[in-house]
Amino acid sequence: MTQATAYRAAILHSLADPALVGLDASYAYHEDGVLVVADGHISDIGPAEEVLARQPANIEVIRFENKLITAGFIDTHIHFPQTEMIASYGEQLLDWLNNYTFPEERKFADPEHARRVASFFLDELLRNGTTTAMVFGTVHKASVEAFFSESDKRNMRMIAGKVMMDRHAPDYLLDTPESSYVDSKDLIERWHNKGRQLYAVTPRFAPTSTAEQLSMAGRLLQEYEGVYLQTHLSENKQEIEWVRELFPERKGYLDVYDHFGLLGERSVFAHAVHLEQEECERMGETDSVISFCPTSNLFLGSGLFDLPEMEGHQIRVGLGTDVGGGTSFSMLQTIAEAYKIQQLQQHKLHPLKALYLATLGGARALRLDDSIGNLEVGKEADFLVLDLHATPLIQSRMKNAHNLFEQLFVLMMLGDDRVIAETYIYGDCRYRRR
Ligand code: GUN
Ligand code: ZN
Repeated sequence: MTQATAYRAAILHSLADPALVGLDASYAYHEDGVLVVADGHISDIGPAEEVLARQPANIEVIRFENKLITAGFIDTHIHFPQTEMIASYGEQLLDWLNNYTFPEERKFADPEHARRVASFFLDELLRNGTTTAMVFGTVHKASVEAFFSESDKRNMRMIAGKVMMDRHAPDYLLDTPESSYVDSKDLIERWHNKGRQLYAVTPRFAPTSTAEQLSMAGRLLQEYEGVYLQTHLSENKQEIEWVRELFPERKGYLDVYDHFGLLGERSVFAHAVHLEQEECERMGETDSVISFCPTSNLFLGSGLFDLPEMEGHQIRVGLGTDVGGGTSFSMLQTIAEAYKIQQLQQHKLHPLKALYLATLGGARALRLDDSIGNLEVGKEADFLVLDLHATPLIQSRMKNAHNLFEQLFVLMMLGDDRVIAETYIYGDCRYRRR
């Protein structure tokens, strides 16, 4: 057992979904708290005096002023190869893919390019306080190889997969049902459960896979216990029409995935902005997950996601940035846009619910809540030190914040990467703001 370290500051973390237990039971807050970390795990947490009384007298204590410790953020949908094309002008989904995304993803045929971008991307996640993400690669096997090796180096808990795409994209980005199966299989065997890495079978979306390829995706899920599925669903109205034309024998978009055995408790569908009633029911029945991607849904003009409606169908929902369709790596910025999207539909997104979605709810969405998502004893020590005085505006607004929820809300509405003072991965400080 290595030496334990105690971190002393205000501490806030999520304990449960406020929709299920009410706001008061959904979190723990210690105004003067201590978090103790040993061997990459949380070994104690609570009010400072109580925790320190339980610890050896000579324990190292790191003390923070005007800071708030919380769990690392979890981004349930993001594309690492789109890092350098974020903020591409003017298009909605299908033209955006053709004009910007596909040419950018072509560059990942070069493994050295993939390694450089993966490294930059992971450092950007750390700068933004994101400690776990579910990540798309490109069609190139080497893109995912590069991603996992960079993630493994940083000891980050990441889920990723190689895009499967065998039609309706430029030739230079196409695989085949067989090659996508074999490449995915190799990557699963090399990386799934290696260190903190996990694999997601990744058909891009129904329009870019043939029935043969979708059935290969289903086969991989059957063959490997614990492997995830990630794809896109009902993001854009033109896209939905196109899926109807391509699969006229199916009831609708979700039914295409359902037919090939792709629904389930480890299946994460990005967007799902325009689901039919029956599709919502089927998502709930199969315990499938939605990644709500606010900045992307606004940027690509996709539509307004109705969070209470989806949760009413017992669908687990996580938050996603969807970079580069999304416009920020920051989960704080993502929450701010989620709040505004709910406002437009007369729903309120409480800051504690938003905290839940960005941490424990994300972990639940990814079935990782036994190891990450909050700061309970025994969990992996992925946590953040947030700066309550990060910018002059935040500092001055905080003087007028009368309770914890107002403070949290100010951080969420005005905050971004500047709020992240430190990011810890498995107990190690991997980022410190200068
Ligand atoms: N649908 C299929 N591919 C993509 C993608 O790369 N980004 C988004 N936002 N939607 C998609
Ligand atoms: Zn996406």
